[in-house]
Amino acid sequence: MTEKRDFISIDDFSNEEIEVLFVIADKMNQLLHRSHGVLAGHLMGSLFLEPSTRTRLSFEAAMNRLGGRVITMSDAAASSFSKGESLADSVRIVSSYTDLIVLRHPQAGAARLAAEYAPVPVINAGDGGHEHPTQTLCDLYALRQTKGRLGGLKVILYGDLKYGRTTHSLALALVRFGTDVLCIAEPGLELPAYVRERLCAMTGTVEQGIRVVDENSVFSGKERQALLYCRDPQAWGIEDDRLKLDGVHCDAIYVTRLQRERLPKSETTLAQALPPIDARFLAHDAFVDAVVLHPLPRVDEIAHEIDGDPRSFYFRQAALGVPVRMALISFLLGHEMMRVERAKPRIFEERGKKRCQNPNCVIVSEGEYLLQRVWSDQEDAWHCIFCDEVL
Ligand code: CP
Repeated sequence: MTEKRDFISIDDFSNEEIEVLFVIADKMNQLLHRSHGVLAGHLMGSLFLEPSTRTRLSFEAAMNRLGGRVITMSDAAASSFSKGESLADSVRIVSSYTDLIVLRHPQAGAARLAAEYAPVPVINAGDGGHEHPTQTLCDLYALRQTKGRLGGLKVILYGDLKYGRTTHSLALALVRFGTDVLCIAEPGLELPAYVRERLCAMTGTVEQGIRVVDENSVFSGKERQALLYCRDPQAWGIEDDRLKLDGVHCDAIYVTRLQRERLPKSETTLAQALPPIDARFLAHDAFVDAVVLHPLPRVDEIAHEIDGDPRSFYFRQAALGVPVRMALISFLLGHEMMRVERAKPRIFEERGKKRCQNPNCVIVSEGEYLLQRVWSDQEDAWHCIFCDEVL
């Protein structure tokens, strides 16, 4: 019997596996409107304990288009979670009914926990403010379609980078593929430390705090603080920690909304401080060839006036979720093979009695039945296996 594969973190697939998956997605795109039934007889459990439009429906569309069937739980209040059933027990039960589980959950690390208890493959469809790796597959596939490659690009991540979980998985993937990432965050909503540390380790550099200067109009003459993750800062023309936007040729700008549902009470009054992406913004020379991506839903961070601009790719990006997820489901259910180098699995260890203190970590909400384990890519930093925060 082959070992089951889960997809919990973007780290679970190597670059080579992602590239092969995209070749399978190309094939799925061709088959989309034909009935082929390759997964007839398979059943997917779709557990969404947080609201969703795109992820749930594109996963369910993908499974249906492959000829499989779906059972859904989209309201935790109408399930036995509301009676206090643990996540571990719930996924054990759903595994006994289905061949694959897709889980969205409000706590960081919930999908990792589910994968430990489920004998069937588990896909992380978003775990709290932590990761959203299948959105990253859609984002990368959109970049590959528009730019023809995933490495050697310049991408701006723009908006709420702290609670916007899609940016965590995406930043790690982009830097791993050799693309430079410039992070322009809402003030106080920069990428979490555990992501930033890994980006620095991957680029082999220390984090570079810079000021983005625009003498024209994009930032209304103000300087914006930003963080740059790249192997060659000279390629961005940075002088004295200042980056002149006029000299940049940006390939993509990836926008996220303020994730109000995740802001702690102390931050709920935060107003959007960054200007929206609108026609004036896109008129800047830096963005002449830049595609605009967004995981959606949007609120007001992208003006409707640019929806018809050929650079606005966000609706097509969402549509690509179906062939990408068809490819992923087919692979995890053993219908497609990837004979390339696998991502190295993380080694989890028990270290002392210290437990994760992140109030949004699943280990805090699920309680004592979970054993705290840690992983490390550097000897001095031990991360919680569920939420990746340093213990
Ligand atoms: N991008 C995304 O996760 O959208 P939904 O919340 O609608 O699934």
